[in-house]
Amino acid sequence: MTVEHEGTRTPVSLTSASWSDPHLQPASAHPESVERTIAALFFVGLLAFIGVGVAYWQNWAAWTLGATLGAGMVLVGAGLTAWGKYLMPRGPFVEERHVLASSPDEVAGFENALVERGATPVRRRKLLGGLLAGGLGVFGIVLALSLVRSLGPLPGNTLDTTNWKRGSYLVDRQGRRVVASELAVGSVVSSVFPEGFQDNEEAQAKDVVILIRVAEAPLQNKGPRATWDPAGFLAYSKMCTHAGCPVGLYERQLELLICPCHQSMFDVANNATPIFGPAPRPLPQLPLYIDSKGYLRSQSGFGQPVGPGFWERS
Ligand code: FES
Repeated sequence: MTVEHEGTRTPVSLTSASWSDPHLQPASAHPESVERTIAALFFVGLLAFIGVGVAYWQNWAAWTLGATLGAGMVLVGAGLTAWGKYLMPRGPFVEERHVLASSPDEVAGFENALVERGATPVRRRKLLGGLLAGGLGVFGIVLALSLVRSLGPLPGNTLDTTNWKRGSYLVDRQGRRVVASELAVGSVVSSVFPEGFQDNEEAQAKDVVILIRVAEAPLQNKGPRATWDPAGFLAYSKMCTHAGCPVGLYERQLELLICPCHQSMFDVANNATPIFGPAPRPLPQLPLYIDSKGYLRSQSGFGQPVGPGFWERS
């Protein structure tokens, strides 16, 4: 069939569809048997999907979920592929298109239109230009303001300091003071705070310390940290120096603190020096002492900012 387009358009030839056209015949020589095979694939796939539901409902092992889901998707996928490949018309199909080039008349008309428009005084452009610039400007301001606002207040020196200071009592989550004699060697108190800050959100993030008793007596008897670990108590900031995750896993045999996020490992008996993983610095240590009543207290705050590095960190 040939279709004539109006005016200057080029004639387009379309071949009408007919069941006798070999291009429209299925690719398979035995479409019935292929259809049966595909039906079988779909049916078994359907059963597999029902199996997913049963496995989920019955709380079966995770592998049964994966196996039934995988089997169902493979079977249905194979069926769809076979359907498309063997049962659909084989083609190829070509639609003839008219020539896309414009006629000389169309080109001349377009040029005339451009010239006429260029010669016309168009005040509206200023208005549109102004409105566009205004809209974009307002958009930019709103964007910048919301961005700045989302950044929140400047941190000031809050990244440098914590709430630990000289004489702070060490307390657990419930606010109970830690008594040195109540913790045997090997004991760990995973979250310790300066007294009065155990319920404070900032303290939960920044002040939290992990307390470990590694020995009966101090580990070091000389150097700047000689007095920091009375009766073998070591207290380290729990904020990982890599990205700030809580370093809460203690491997007692190897005396390692492990960060669960990227598996940095810190040598507890050696100033929490990182021995594996991406953490770049040791965990800051909190200097401790035991007062006359047996309570653990801090000699001072940390000697350095806790947590990961930041731009002004010395
Ligand atoms: S946050 Fe601890 S290793 Fe990355």
